[in-house]
Amino acid sequence: MPSFQTSPGTRDILPPDAARWREFNAIFADTVEAAGYGCIIPPIFEDAAVFHRIGEATDVVSKEMYDFQDKGGRHVSLRPEQTASVCRAYAQHRPTTPWKVWYTGPNFRYEKAQAGRYRQFDQVGIEALGVHDSALDVEVIALAWKFYQRLGLLNVQLFINSLGDDGDRERYVEALREYFLSHADALTPEARQTLDKNPLRVLDSKRQGDAEIIAGAPKITAFLSASASQHFEEVLEGLRVLDIPFTQNELLVRGLDYYRRTTFEFVSTALESAQNAVGGGGRYDGLVKDLGGPDTPGIGFALGLDRTLLACDAEGVFGAPKSSVDVFVVDVVDGTYALSVTSALHDAGYSADRAFDSRSMKAQMKSADRSGARFAIIIAQDEVASGSYTIRDMTSAQQQLVAKGDLVEFLTRNLGARTPRRHPS
Ligand code: HAM
Repeated sequence: MPSFQTSPGTRDILPPDAARWREFNAIFADTVEAAGYGCIIPPIFEDAAVFHRIGEATDVVSKEMYDFQDKGGRHVSLRPEQTASVCRAYAQHRPTTPWKVWYTGPNFRYEKAQAGRYRQFDQVGIEALGVHDSALDVEVIALAWKFYQRLGLLNVQLFINSLGDDGDRERYVEALREYFLSHADALTPEARQTLDKNPLRVLDSKRQGDAEIIAGAPKITAFLSASASQHFEEVLEGLRVLDIPFTQNELLVRGLDYYRRTTFEFVSTALESAQNAVGGGGRYDGLVKDLGGPDTPGIGFALGLDRTLLACDAEGVFGAPKSSVDVFVVDVVDGTYALSVTSALHDAGYSADRAFDSRSMKAQMKSADRSGARFAIIIAQDEVASGSYTIRDMTSAQQQLVAKGDLVEFLTRNLGARTPRRHPS
C-alpha cells in the first residue's frame, strides 16, 4: 500500500494552527483596510511572461519558477509572488488611482526546502499604485510595522535603502561591475557567475568569502539623482515623525529586479540569520509600464506568513488559539436529541459539538471534557421524561436542570448573546 507524504517544501497546516493563520489574515486585513486598502484576489497561475518581469537574472525567475505548458500549449507559471500579478491586473483593468489593494495567499518557488524556506509559502501584502509622493512610502512601511506590533513582535528590525531611478541604478550597476571585475579573483565562483548576469545581486551574497569585497564596494548613495535623494530623505523623515526605528543599509538590494527608489526589509533577530527576513518591499515605478500598462508608479510589501509565525514562536507571542466549543451535548438516549439540540444551538449562534456511535455516558463525558466546552448538556431518559436538560458547568462541576425552552436564555445569561446564524432577510 502506498504511503503518501506531503511533497518537499510543502506542509499541512493542521488545527489549531490553521486557526492562527486565519487570525493572522484577519488582523492584517483590519490593519490595512483601516488605511483604505481593498482586498484583491489574483489568480494562482498566469502567463509565465508576467513573472519574467521580476527580472531574468533573479533566482526567482531563472531557477525557481513552477512553470509548465498547459494542455492548450500556453506557457504558464504558478505565481512566485503577487506584485507582478497586481501590476498586470492594474494594466488590464485600469482602475482609478490611487489604487490601494491588499492580498493574502500561497506563492510557489522551487527553493532548497528547509526550516523557514518552503516551496509553497504564504504572504500577506499591499500594493499602492499611481502615487509618487514619499508620504505613501511612509504609509506603506508604517502599516507593516503596525502589523508586526499588533502580533506582539518586539524583535523586528527595519532596514531601508534607496536604489534610485532608472539612470541612477544603471550608473551604479556599471560602477559595481567595474569594481567587482577588478576584484574578481577574490570573489567566490558563485559570485563571479552572478556578476556576469547582474552585479547588484552580488551584494546579496551571504557567503563569507565575498563579505570583504562587498564591504569595500561603491555605495548607491553616491549615485542617487537629486530628486531620488530628496525622496529618500523625506521617507526617512516621515519614519522619524512616526517614531519607527530604522537602519539604513546601503547594501540592501533585495532579490527582485523591479525595485526603484525606496527598498526595505524586515528582519527578525529572533530567527536564524539564513531565514530571518520576515518581510520586504519597495517601489517599482517601472513595472506597470513593463507589463504593457501606462507609466504608473507603485510601492508595496509582502510579509512571509510562515516565517513571521516562526518569529512569533521564537518570541513566544501570538500563539495558536485554544480550540473549544461553547457546549457539548451528551445524549445517552439514542443520539437524535443531540442531533436536534446541536442544530438548534448552531442556528442560535452558539458552537456545539456532540459524540457519535452511541457511546457510554462515561466516554461522552470524556469527549465533553476534551472539547473544552464550558457546559455539557446531558440528555438521558429522565431528562426526556421531564422535558428538561441537565446542564453541567465543566469548570465548577455543578449541575442543574433547565427546562428545554429555557436553554438559549440560560446560555445567553452565562455565555453572552450571540448573533443567530440565519439568512438576514
Ligand atoms: P520577497 O522578499 O521575495 O518579496 O518575499 C517577501 C517575504 O516572503 C520574505 O521576506 C519572506 O518572509 C517570505 N518568503 C519569500 N520566499 C519564501 C520561502 N521560500 N519560504 C518562506 N517564506 C518566503 C516579494 O515577494 C515582493 N513581492 C514584495 C513586494 C511587494 N515588493 C513590493 N511589493
